[in-house]
Amino acid sequence: MAGNKKPWSGRFQKPTAKNVEKFTASISFDQRLYKYDIEGSIAHVTMLAGQGIITPAEAGKIIKALESILKDMNQGKILFDLSDEDIHMAIERELIRRTGETGGKLHTARSRNDQIVLDVRLFLRREVDDIFLLLHKLQEQLVRSAKNEISTIMPGYTHMQKAQPVLLAHYLLAFWDMFARDAERLQNCKDRFNVLPLGAAALAGTTLPIDRRQTAKKLKFPVISQNSMDTVADRDFIAEFIFAAALIMMHLSRFCEDLVLWSTDEFGFVEISDAYTTGSSIMPQKKNPDVAELIRGKCGRVYGDLLAIMTILKGLPMTYNRDLQEDKEPLFDAVDTVKDCLSIFTEMIGQTKFHSAKMYQAAYGGFSTATDVAEYLVKKGVPFRKSHEIVGKIVAYCLRNKKNLDNLSLADYQKFYNGFRADIQENIKLEKAVNSRNHIGGTATAAVLKRIREIEKQSVQK
Ligand code: ARG
Repeated sequence: MAGNKKPWSGRFQKPTAKNVEKFTASISFDQRLYKYDIEGSIAHVTMLAGQGIITPAEAGKIIKALESILKDMNQGKILFDLSDEDIHMAIERELIRRTGETGGKLHTARSRNDQIVLDVRLFLRREVDDIFLLLHKLQEQLVRSAKNEISTIMPGYTHMQKAQPVLLAHYLLAFWDMFARDAERLQNCKDRFNVLPLGAAALAGTTLPIDRRQTAKKLKFPVISQNSMDTVADRDFIAEFIFAAALIMMHLSRFCEDLVLWSTDEFGFVEISDAYTTGSSIMPQKKNPDVAELIRGKCGRVYGDLLAIMTILKGLPMTYNRDLQEDKEPLFDAVDTVKDCLSIFTEMIGQTKFHSAKMYQAAYGGFSTATDVAEYLVKKGVPFRKSHEIVGKIVAYCLRNKKNLDNLSLADYQKFYNGFRADIQENIKLEKAVNSRNHIGGTATAAVLKRIREIEKQSVQK
């Protein structure tokens, strides 16, 4: 579609400089919006005819041509040219080439300013639905893994120091909750952007008798934007979406950080499948968790997208400014990155082997049941602050004498507090420690199984 005459060339005496054409064009990236642009145009033209602004015959001709352009674009038959500037003009030019003067009526009562926001909203609506599915698949995988690992005990950490034993299933379901909030955030964001912008035109609306309700209905928008100036100036929804995507990436990244650490020889908690790791070009023994590392790295990239959109918007005068064209690359990048990462992560975690014996052994060391000893004393009526101090002294004694909480004799325990009884040995077993935390949100097997049942019930209801 070469050719240099711009639809806006009326008031210009000289053609655009070649490098300016290249500098200002967005066609190289906004071409991926073509389906939505055509969908929007068909709805618009239908409304124009419904309102008697153009004739039904003209609308019919335009719609038929738009449908054939869509088919050709789907088949890659139409090559885009820099002189097209953007996807709206590329499609309009092709329409006029196919329908002559009639095609020139499509842009009645519309501006590229409301058109581009429409395209992006339609695009994002579709992509967000895809991301919902990917999140859902990941959550399903987490539940599957949690069920498989229901008896695996691992050390839980705070400050990267062994803290208290937990079920691996409890760890996995912690991420289930995070991804559930991510999905909710996306739903809120979608509710806010699922609003018809068309009709705002350049910024002030139009003198022509449009019917925005008709267009909204055709494009399945439940809500119509209420202020034409806000409509063309607003990109909050893009910032909000990228923020939601950045949080998904942050959650994946934290999970990946654990997997990287857990797959070291030093930890040995997991083995990521060969299919999701790579080798070293020099060290033959290496099996590197590159996929997990790349997801962690790509989180930074999506943060970059967020910073870009926030910075682009800051300080823009009302209403539309060409700066806003810069919203698309960060948006597309965030969409593509989060989708790629979610799907590869789900596969990877599904094929990761958890070494339960190694985890158990690690949970066993490091005085991870010291809090249980303190709470044992609380049950005997000792104030917690005091029991904390008593157990602190027991731990210090063990460290000095190279002992552990479970190889101290009852007499040893009683040296620190005479209310200890023989059942203390039972109370510091890992299984007992885990299963005693049997309340809403606790790590006991019964509590985790209950949570799994609730989750499964929820997803059946959805
Ligand atoms: N390519 C432009 C964008 O992405 C489309 C809107 C252009 N509008 C204009 N008046 N130049 O924002």
